[in-house]
Amino acid sequence: MVNVVKNIEKLNIDKFQMDLISWFKAEQRCLPWRKDQDPYKVWVSEIMLQQTRVDTVIPFFNRFIEWFPTIEDLAEANEDKVLKAWEGLGYYSRVRNLQSAVREVKEKYNGVVPNTPKEIAELKGVGPYTAGAILSIAYGIPEPAVDGNVMRVLSRILSIWDDIARQSSRKVFEQAVRELISHDEPSEFNQALMELGALICTPTSPSCLLCPVRDHCQAFYEGVQTELPIKSKKNKVRNVQLAAVILTDKDGKMLIHKRPANGLLANLWEFPNIEIHHPIENDREQVCNQFKQTYGLIIDLEKIIGQIEHVFSHLVWNINIHSGIICSGFKESDEWKLVSVEEMNEYAFPVSSQKMLKLFNEYQKE
Ligand code: ADE
Repeated sequence: MVNVVKNIEKLNIDKFQMDLISWFKAEQRCLPWRKDQDPYKVWVSEIMLQQTRVDTVIPFFNRFIEWFPTIEDLAEANEDKVLKAWEGLGYYSRVRNLQSAVREVKEKYNGVVPNTPKEIAELKGVGPYTAGAILSIAYGIPEPAVDGNVMRVLSRILSIWDDIARQSSRKVFEQAVRELISHDEPSEFNQALMELGALICTPTSPSCLLCPVRDHCQAFYEGVQTELPIKSKKNKVRNVQLAAVILTDKDGKMLIHKRPANGLLANLWEFPNIEIHHPIENDREQVCNQFKQTYGLIIDLEKIIGQIEHVFSHLVWNINIHSGIICSGFKESDEWKLVSVEEMNEYAFPVSSQKMLKLFNEYQKE
C-alpha cells in the first residue's frame, strides 16, 4: 500500500505499534466497560463517553448496565426509565437514538450487534467514531475510531496541521489510522490511542517525558507539540434569557411540565418557564402575562430565589428562578403534573431543573 498521509514514511510502524500497545497493556485504567468485549456494553460506553468525561461516565455506565443488562432489556424498556438512567449526563438525544437503534438490532439482527461497517453505520446515532470503536473493540476488526482526542494525538505524532474543527479533517486522520493500525491487535491499538490522549498527550500540557511513543513523535522532534492540534474556534453561542417558576399548590406540590418530543432536552421534565425576549428590571407582570398567554396559567409570583447559567454546546440559558403559586388554569395531563418532592424522583429532569430544586429547597429552609 502506498502511504498517502504526510510523514507516515518517517515512522517505523511496527515499532510504533509495539511501543504503544505494550504501554497500554501495562498502564491502562481499569474501567468497567473493559471487563469484557460485549458489543452492547462497548456501544453504551462509547455513546456515554462521546461528550462526557470518563470519571463522570463510570457510575452512570454501571447503573445503566444494572438497569438494562442486555439489548432486549433496553429495547423493551419504557422511555421514561431510560431517560431517568441518563439524567444528568446531558445530550439526551444520544440515549433516545441508542434505544431506537437497539430496538432495530433486536428486530432486524436478532439481538446481535452487526459486525460490518455498512450495517453498523446505518444504526441511529452510530457515527463513524462509534462504528469504528465497536468494530475494533468488540469484534477485533481493524477500523479507525477517530474522535477529538485521537486527532490530537495523531496531529502531534505525524505533525498534521489540518484544522481538526473542520469535518473534512477527520478523513485525513482516519486514513492515518488505516495505515498505522495493528491488524493483530486493533482493539488494543485504538484504545491505546484513546488512553494516550487521556493520560499523556493531553490538550494543554502533554507529558512528553512520560510518553511511550515520544521517539516516534514528529511534533516532539520539532518542538511544536503545544502548538498542535490546530483547532479553530466554533461560532459564537446564542444567549437566551428565561424565567422559570417553581409553582406550588396549597399542599406544597410542585408543577412540572414535560418538554416537547422533539428538539432540545426532548421529553424531559422541567419547571415551567418562558423565554424573555426583552428583559426589563422588574419583570413580575411580564412573566405572569406570558405564563397566561403561553400556558393559560394564572399565577402569582413571590420572590426571585436565584439565577442559573446553563451552558449547552450552541446555547447559553440565563435563567431567573421565581417561586410562586398557581391561582387557576391548571389541569393535570400527560404534559403537566403536580408532584411532591418524593414523586419527582420518578421523572427525568435536566441538570438545570435539579439546580433549581436545590435553590428552592434552600430558599424554603431560610
Ligand atoms: N473515550 C472514548 N472511548 C473510550 C474508551 N473506550 N475508554 C476510555 N476512554 C474513552
